Amino acid sequence: MTTIQKLARWKQADEGWFRDLDNACFPKDSSFLNDEDYRWWVLYEGRTPVAYAGLKVVAWNGDQSRIKRVKFTRCGVLPEHRGKGYQQRLIRRRLAWCRRAGVSRVETYTSLDNAVSGSNLLRAGFTRRKKGDWYTYRLELQ
Ligand SMILES: CC(C)(COP(=O)(O)OP(=O)(O)OC[C@H]1O[C@@H](n2cnc3c(N)ncnc32)[C@H](O)[C@@H]1OP(=O)(O)O)[C@@H](O)C(=O)NCCC(=O)NCCS
Repeated sequence: MTTIQKLARWKQADEGWFRDLDNACFPKDSSFLNDEDYRWWVLYEGRTPVAYAGLKVVAWNGDQSRIKRVKFTRCGVLPEHRGKGYQQRLIRRRLAWCRRAGVSRVETYTSLDNAVSGSNLLRAGFTRRKKGDWYTYRLELQ
């Protein structure tokens, strides 16, 4: 059985098990970032974490009562668990959270060669533009 859980505290993403998951998904990339503006979700098969994804709050409305804009940050799926729709589920889960939180715009980016993430984001309703060596994506929620 698979479940997706949101980490209750952003700090949990600095714990060893989470960093091990990140390193296994992105073995060549040590640019993992985390601070209080991040929110994280983990997908479990049973009790085993096999995928994760995050977002970063980048703008609040004037009185900080509602989040205005977020950026989806990295999404990683362990190599042996790819192709099972987990990234798609993590996109949908984060968007559901954004809608509940009143977020008005979601942005993200991918490298030009990341066809899987690209098609998953387009399928979720994002629009895409090419910007130099990257694709940028945007989804207006309300
Ligand atoms: C990119 C990544 C997150 C995708 O996760 P995933 O859980 O395997 O992706 P999903 O299973 O949700 O999506 C697979 C879909 O992409 C499609 N797909 C696979 N290869 C594709 C390709 N070359 N071109 C377009 N679509 C492709 C599949 O057909 C599938 O769609 P379907 O459900 O209609 O069959 C995962 O491969 C990964 O962790 N890669 C390393 C880290 C990374 O690059 N992260 C993203 C950048 S932040």
